[in-house]
Amino acid sequence: MRKYWLLLVTVVCCGLLHAQTKTVTVVRAGKLIDTDNGKVLDNQLILIENDTIRAVGSNIAIPKNATVIDLSKATVMPGLIDCHTHVTSQPGGDYYADIFRKTPIDAAITAHIYAKRTLEAGFTTIRDVGSAAFVDVALRNAINNGDIPGPRMLCATLFIGSTGSHGDLNGFSPFLDSKFPKEMSGIANGVDEIRKQVRYNIKYGADVIKFGASAGVLSEEESVGAPQFTQEEMNALVDEAKLWGKKACAHAHGTVAIKMAVKAGVASIEHGSLVDEEGIELMKQHGTYLVADIYDDDYILSEYSKMGYPDKIINKERMVGRLQRENFAKAVKAGVKIAFGTDAGVYPHGWNGKQFFYMVKYGLTPMQAIQSATSSAADLLGWKDKVGSIVPGKMADLVAVTADPLQNITVLENVQFVMKGGVVYKNTLASK
Ligand code: ARG
Repeated sequence: MRKYWLLLVTVVCCGLLHAQTKTVTVVRAGKLIDTDNGKVLDNQLILIENDTIRAVGSNIAIPKNATVIDLSKATVMPGLIDCHTHVTSQPGGDYYADIFRKTPIDAAITAHIYAKRTLEAGFTTIRDVGSAAFVDVALRNAINNGDIPGPRMLCATLFIGSTGSHGDLNGFSPFLDSKFPKEMSGIANGVDEIRKQVRYNIKYGADVIKFGASAGVLSEEESVGAPQFTQEEMNALVDEAKLWGKKACAHAHGTVAIKMAVKAGVASIEHGSLVDEEGIELMKQHGTYLVADIYDDDYILSEYSKMGYPDKIINKERMVGRLQRENFAKAVKAGVKIAFGTDAGVYPHGWNGKQFFYMVKYGLTPMQAIQSATSSAADLLGWKDKVGSIVPGKMADLVAVTADPLQNITVLENVQFVMKGGVVYKNTLASK
């Protein structure tokens, strides 16, 4: 009997404790960007309970126990989403040292720094599309556990590529075959190996599957555009991912590879640099998102030679960089679905917002650019019920700026307020 009393007291106490720890916050938004409808609303109140938005409107009763955050002089929008990051690392300043003197353990030690910078830049969610040795999964889990600050993460784990592909170690002696033990290389050839690799990635934590449909820039294979899997291989990869309920995305610069990946059924084409009219049409037909990293060219051309990157790589960048921007403009004009993705990690983490300027320069309206990094990005991630707009039931992920981003999109390079899951991670606004 005594036992039961003890149990009852424990249950009641836990209940009380739980009730006490419920935090209620109300954010006063001078302007609120309704990303689902592409509208701006004035003087809105956002009622937040713990990590979730409960109500939004101009006429909400403020509960007595609520903490009020006054952003009445600011524009508030949903937390930003970057659909193409490599948050676990960035170049250390020396090409060969990065390849030969570093291991995934180095990345594991420093990844938290980049996660924090990303979050403080207003990116409360990222789709991280390639990381060594499952460092991304460890990072995601530590963030979800509340151990360290960082964005919500969808992880691709190992980049899946064929032998000699963008995902392989190229340009060196055959005795320096790989940076990783075979199992963790992500190298797979033929339908069976590819299916096995997809399963392996998912087994160890992948939320999404990323593969190299074409060659790339920042790797030493000769071409930048050539397909690196057959149609059959791409079909099998996307099919296997689907069996596990996962979306696939394709690194694809090349004209032919883009079409092959779209036909295989990927959710998004990453880079998309050399897409042609037929590819654009196919993407529209299949509803494939374009995730084009159109800021990187500036950074690579100004910094990468200094870091010792071979001319071969710099020349590949010269070949695709400008074309990528022009083709992005064509895709926008044709009505291809666009999601914001930067390849952060090619340039320093935290600079993600710099890409907005280019997206507007090459054809999006400021509102569309913001939607690409909020509602559209959430759609691509399959997280529409969770993030991407400020509506009841979604996570309380908010950013705010005092200047109007619809007048000047570059203000998103320095967001002044960041909340993720109801917790404020940054607030440099005058009226706190
Ligand atoms: N990770 C990509 C690659 O190596 C970066 C491409 C950057 N260049 C560009 N113009 N977007 O292929």
